[in-house]
Amino acid sequence: MRLGIHRGPGFSDRWIEWCEAQGVAWKPVDCYRSDIVAQLADCDGLMWHWHQTNPKDVLFARQLTAALEAGGKAVFPDVATSWHFDDKVAQKYLFEAIGAPSPPTQVFYDLASALRWIGEAEFPQVFKLRRGAGSVNVQLVRTRGEARRLAQQAFGRGFAVVNRLAEIRDNARKARRTGDLQPLLKAARSAARLVRPNTFERQDGRERGYLYLQAFAPDNDHDTRVVVVGDRAWALRRRVRPNDFRASGSGDALYDPDGIDRRMLRIALDVRAKLGAQCLSFDFVRGADGAPLIVEISYGFPIGAFLDNCPGHWDGALTFHADQENRPQHFMAADLVARIRAQRA
Ligand SMILES: Nc1ncnc2c1ncn2[C@@H]1O[C@H](COP(=O)(O)OP(=O)(O)O)[C@@H](O)[C@H]1O
Ligand SMILES: [Mg+2]
Repeated sequence: MRLGIHRGPGFSDRWIEWCEAQGVAWKPVDCYRSDIVAQLADCDGLMWHWHQTNPKDVLFARQLTAALEAGGKAVFPDVATSWHFDDKVAQKYLFEAIGAPSPPTQVFYDLASALRWIGEAEFPQVFKLRRGAGSVNVQLVRTRGEARRLAQQAFGRGFAVVNRLAEIRDNARKARRTGDLQPLLKAARSAARLVRPNTFERQDGRERGYLYLQAFAPDNDHDTRVVVVGDRAWALRRRVRPNDFRASGSGDALYDPDGIDRRMLRIALDVRAKLGAQCLSFDFVRGADGAPLIVEISYGFPIGAFLDNCPGHWDGALTFHADQENRPQHFMAADLVARIRAQRA
């Protein structure tokens, strides 16, 4: 029994920590080398925290995963966990197909159909690009005219894969609000990238050829993030930015377990199980009637302060366990090893 682990930013240090503590053999592998399949010859599985803004990862991580699974290896994240990652268009179809509660969402692939729908739709709507995090590619569309302009752009010159102007504005506001230096530095870096785009922007080009609009769920002063690994759930609430509807990236979190809507925990646990995914992070808002609605799922999420401040997690029966020793990343490794052992037996 041995795991191959690609070391890098994100989850991998915790996976290694778990392997060392449990006496599970592991070796470092390099997914960027052409011989990755050969490197894994003496391993039962691969763990790689690949990232949606690393152009190399986006280029081949999903395909490598599918190939390794075809060859009988266990992978984290596996295909069921990752095929819809950082793709809100994929998630629209997924939520509809499995009947997961989500705001009604439209996607159009030509201008005429988009304009026809916009002509009759109710506003506001929420415009999103399929990719993006921290709310940078999410905006409120208040009027038909605004929606038409976005449609023209979607089927014309398209959108930068990262909205740097929005990022600068957001971080400048955050700096003013909190007095912190960190957001100012981020704003400066975004400004530099306006002049000199990074590899991600250069390689991944522009988002175009589709228009995504989602019904707006009004009056949410926070969203709820639920992270599920197997049948365990961690949760926190994130307050929206002042005079804004968007929570993701606000950096303003509430960790009180009693403040978490248990319906959201149930839905997240059930959707994870239905998809057969190893791990999913959910962003929930409430509809006008107060019912939970999923706006996004992701297998990857920031490590560190955020989720680590949760005082514990819920199990599949929604019993809370106060436990800060075992982090979600430890369970990712534990579940993969358990799966390999079960397959062997
Ligand atoms: N349909 C919606 N109605 C109301 N608020 C929404 C809606 N969709 C997203 N939001 C808010 O915007 C934030 C960002 O949206 P999300 O789809 O999670 O994109 P990102 O990938 O940037 O996190 C969410 O955290 C939520 O607060
Ligand atoms: Mg989100």
